[in-house]
Amino acid sequence: MYVNGDIVTDAGFYVNPAEDRISVSGQDLTYQEYIYIMMNKPEGVISSTYDSKDTTVIDLLEGEYSHRNLFPAGRLDKDAVGLVLLTDDGKLAHRLLAPKNRVEKTYYAEVKGRLDESDVNAFAQGMKLEDFVTLPAKLEILESDDISCCYVTISEGKFHQVKRMMQARGKEVVFLKRLSIGPLKLDETLGPGDWRELTEDEIYSLNHFDSM
Ligand code: URA
Repeated sequence: MYVNGDIVTDAGFYVNPAEDRISVSGQDLTYQEYIYIMMNKPEGVISSTYDSKDTTVIDLLEGEYSHRNLFPAGRLDKDAVGLVLLTDDGKLAHRLLAPKNRVEKTYYAEVKGRLDESDVNAFAQGMKLEDFVTLPAKLEILESDDISCCYVTISEGKFHQVKRMMQARGKEVVFLKRLSIGPLKLDETLGPGDWRELTEDEIYSLNHFDSM
């Protein structure tokens, strides 16, 4: 290893990653303070860091980044698919998840039963569920039939929230996919279980968007 052009063989040598130029086998290393990964979570995988029986989103990274303490910034049900953000940036995760910031999450959902304007209005008004009243949410109907398709945008993240809001309207969610978290949109070229690091622009947008 070379530090600022000088060979270093002492494993205990202290480097300042923000200032020192470090190279190994002729390659300059760049230091990333935080890691940000978007994953297209597949069905059947849980969005936790560890589980004794189920595969987790961390398992899908197959040991890459195992030296970093990555965690999912927000839960997605085991049977739901789509965007999960994995990071070790606790401050950003907190900002995305803090209820007071009302960060919008958009989902594509398929539900049993027909959707109509009365559902759109109920979502827009905020709905009384068993243990809380939801904030106003946006329901956009794409197709109304025996199985209806829609986009749902919520700005909180209560347990099973979309499923419970639909259930309160007498509809069962049969497919749920998260498309966005704040300004971050799922890269639709990622197949189920695929992941990639965020681009500079995506990281910038997460750090600079207006939340409440
Ligand atoms: N709403 C749900 O019902 N499930 C999720 O995983 C996310 C939002």
